Amino acid sequence: MTIKALLEEGVDFLDARDNALLDCEVILAYVLGFDREHLIAHFDDAVDADLQQLFKNYMERIEDGEPIAYITGSKEFYGLDFFVDSRVLVPRPETEHLVERILSYMRKNDGKRYDILDVGTGSCNIPVAIVAALREKGEDLIGIFDAVDVSDDALHVAQINVAQHGLEDKIHVYQSDLMADVGDSYDIIVANLPYIGEESNRFVSADVEKHEPNVALFGGSNGLELYEKMFLQLIEKDIDYKLIVGEFGFAQSEIMGKLLDKYFEGKWVIDKDYADIDRIFVIIK
Ligand SMILES: C[S@@+](CC[C@H](N)C(=O)[O-])C[C@H]1O[C@@H](n2cnc3c(N)ncnc32)[C@H](O)[C@@H]1O
Repeated sequence: MTIKALLEEGVDFLDARDNALLDCEVILAYVLGFDREHLIAHFDDAVDADLQQLFKNYMERIEDGEPIAYITGSKEFYGLDFFVDSRVLVPRPETEHLVERILSYMRKNDGKRYDILDVGTGSCNIPVAIVAALREKGEDLIGIFDAVDVSDDALHVAQINVAQHGLEDKIHVYQSDLMADVGDSYDIIVANLPYIGEESNRFVSADVEKHEPNVALFGGSNGLELYEKMFLQLIEKDIDYKLIVGEFGFAQSEIMGKLLDKYFEGKWVIDKDYADIDRIFVIIK
């Protein structure tokens, strides 16, 4: 069977799915070890029977709603390639906004080195993106960078990405239940904690719930319980900070505002994401 015929079969199989052709091309290119451009330029080449079967197996996983990134083991975030598998949330484009916000804060203050903490680091996409962006411009602005997660599984993936980007000397990955085991002073604290509500604000697709780790998705009854727990730890442990930046869900602006008023009255703002949706909170001490 040729590449073209196999792609047609794949598109038929994924019938009702958006972007079926693109998905088939990405997966077939992955199976054959080519990039997509090469694949498209070689439509009439024959594909071995064992690779045809592998492609069909992957099609079944996609049809079942599994993220393509878990099959290819790779996801782009902030222009960088990250290893991902079912132990971590697939990094989302809207989270790049957190990275941008932190980089712009750091670049306003000439010459200073910043100690940073990332709570709920997952694949370590946020720390790696920040450090790599600074490194690319030759900016040496990082002091300590701690990246913590409660999940052993996620920590393994985080370590892989730190090593893959050669940042073992810059980013320290370790286990902590929110802020239970972190240091006592940071300039910047960033968190993209699970924020899907189990009772209210339960905005999650069946595919995401089935395939991505529940520990990365659900944040208690209204979705913001982990953030509240983190704020309480911060206050009880008297952890020093200058800036805290975090992400929340598209329908949570009002309850997030109430939560922020409870602990940080007059010290916070909410920013919109690229789609003009309230998405991140910024607390300035
Ligand atoms: C929404 S994911 C975000 C992952 C990554 N930071 C990103 O932006 O793609 C939330 C992460 O928080 C972690 N997490 C959940 N509960 C936690 C807790 N109590 N303490 C620390 N991390 C936690 C999950 O394991 C998961 O990796």
